[in-house]
Amino acid sequence: MSNEFKLGARGELKLFANRSGQQFAQKVVDSISEVVSSKISPYSINLSELNVIDFADGEFKPEPKETVRGVDAYLIQNSFDTTSNRSPQDNMMESFMAIRALKVAGAERVTLVLPYHSYSRQDKAKGREPITARLIGEILSLSGADNVLTTDLHADQICGFYPVNTKVDNLRASRVLMPKIREMFPKGKLENLLIMGPDAGGAQRAEYYAKTLGTEIGHASKRRSYSTANQVEKLEVQGDFKGRDILIIDDMIDTGGTIIKASQAVLEKGAKEVYVVCVHPLFNGKSLEMFSKENIKVLGTDTIPRYNSFKEENPWFSEISVAPIHAKAILKLNSNMSLNDLYLE
Ligand code: R5P
Repeated sequence: MSNEFKLGARGELKLFANRSGQQFAQKVVDSISEVVSSKISPYSINLSELNVIDFADGEFKPEPKETVRGVDAYLIQNSFDTTSNRSPQDNMMESFMAIRALKVAGAERVTLVLPYHSYSRQDKAKGREPITARLIGEILSLSGADNVLTTDLHADQICGFYPVNTKVDNLRASRVLMPKIREMFPKGKLENLLIMGPDAGGAQRAEYYAKTLGTEIGHASKRRSYSTANQVEKLEVQGDFKGRDILIIDDMIDTGGTIIKASQAVLEKGAKEVYVVCVHPLFNGKSLEMFSKENIKVLGTDTIPRYNSFKEENPWFSEISVAPIHAKAILKLNSNMSLNDLYLE
């Protein structure tokens, strides 16, 4: 397996993690260790130390604790973290600073591994507001990021918001989700399945899953309040839902309003059972209580760090890891190889 890589082609590989990236980083290290056998030492890859000092006024300062001259550095960071009180702003700031620290300490290349890209819903402007998804790209690029690895961006075009010296690889969670869905709906069950996105923005993703799995597709349209955050005004669904199992697929769950409304709408139209698949389950507001009360099964990924008892407390939720996809992308980048196959299911 390790023969498929040419490790070191882009210089010595070193992995670092910011404070909110520790959980995901450990999974990446474990996945890499499974792929890169200890036989091909010196490539036993561990997490290198990145120290962060906190100051009394809330400022902080990250510092790599070993030399990075000439290395191909990867910084792993989760921007939304349910296990600490660090905000997306704190985490993004920590990323900007750690990237700059690695760059000024002599790293040849710095890749930010950002499994969930915060601010990606701010990809358009109606009035005087900023397109913050682009601003994040500009600041990451200015900080010194040569590459960003992320998963299922809210809008694919965000890759193009980054300046030309920063390459964005938007990896697909479908690579792990699709086999799991096949397992959940084997032949005999698959025929009764209908796939649907909860709004027009999710229609393309739903179409891809429906086409690949060979199922029928339903449609939904959502009207949001543009002035009040997380407020769904109206959600309408179209399709032949009677007696069917419905799989609603979305890039993210924030407060759960969208998914709950879409589930209720299909159940009102006679759906038998509702399943939800979501790449980035943030679960803010009252969403945990709502999902538990409605007894909706949700399959998500681990782009959001969780505290230990989460799964036990929320048995309706199951999780599949995208760390192996990111690990493989890291090994391929360091080997200067194409990531093309990681974009396919
Ligand atoms: C919106 O376009 C996204 O794809 C999600 O549907 C949305 O962000 C989910 O937010 P909430 O769970 O708060 O309705």
